Amino acid sequence: LGGGPLSGRHVLVTSGPTHEPIDPVRYIANRSSGAQGAAIARAARDAGARVSFVTGPASVPPPEGVDVIRVETAREMREAVLAALPADVAIFVAAVADWRVATPSDRKMKKSGGALPVLDFAENPDILAEVSRHDQRPTLVIGFAAETHDVADHARAKRERKGCDWILANDVSDGTGIMGGAENAVTFISAEGAEEWPRAGKDAVATRLIERIAAKLAGEL
Ligand code: C5P
Repeated sequence: LGGGPLSGRHVLVTSGPTHEPIDPVRYIANRSSGAQGAAIARAARDAGARVSFVTGPASVPPPEGVDVIRVETAREMREAVLAALPADVAIFVAAVADWRVATPSDRKMKKSGGALPVLDFAENPDILAEVSRHDQRPTLVIGFAAETHDVADHARAKRERKGCDWILANDVSDGTGIMGGAENAVTFISAEGAEEWPRAGKDAVATRLIERIAAKLAGEL
């Protein structure tokens, strides 16, 4: 065991998109690469934590030296997260699909004479909100919020609604290049208020977050 600031701690990180099946060959997804989640898991590992990394089908590989739990759908992600508790810290970086197709077809859907398919949706479980109110709630529960406008206002409301401690909000509007890109610009929201973190590499954002977590757990904040 090394003597890093998070040694002896268990950190749970969700990452990547989820895939929600339409039929055996088609799915609904989003543009999350999993880069920010992987960077956070790596930084937690480097700080000495034991890391459970629950990841959807991301386009970047998971870091070495963490426990990787691969999932496809939001419901699988929820099961994996609950199974990984207890944890000292849970960081929800995954871009979980808000909706799934209510009844995916068990056969490939076929074109039929110009009739267009209609998909019925069902709401996915909100994993962050559930863990925030769980009996085994981690000491620190942290969410992300990808917003395209009124970033800080939406994130403040989201922090209250979800019951988490901190939200890292980012502006993913067109032209920022953040979703799928190498950099992130974060508004950090806690009970104390909002702080702007300057645009930086996703690794630098991860390091800054892990330092903040270590300071909080050490009672320095
Ligand atoms: O509500 P919204 O999707 O914007 O919330 C984003 C935050 O909530 C992220 O931290 C994300 O990982 C988490 N989340 C979740 N389960 C969902 C939806 C979002 O854990 N079904």
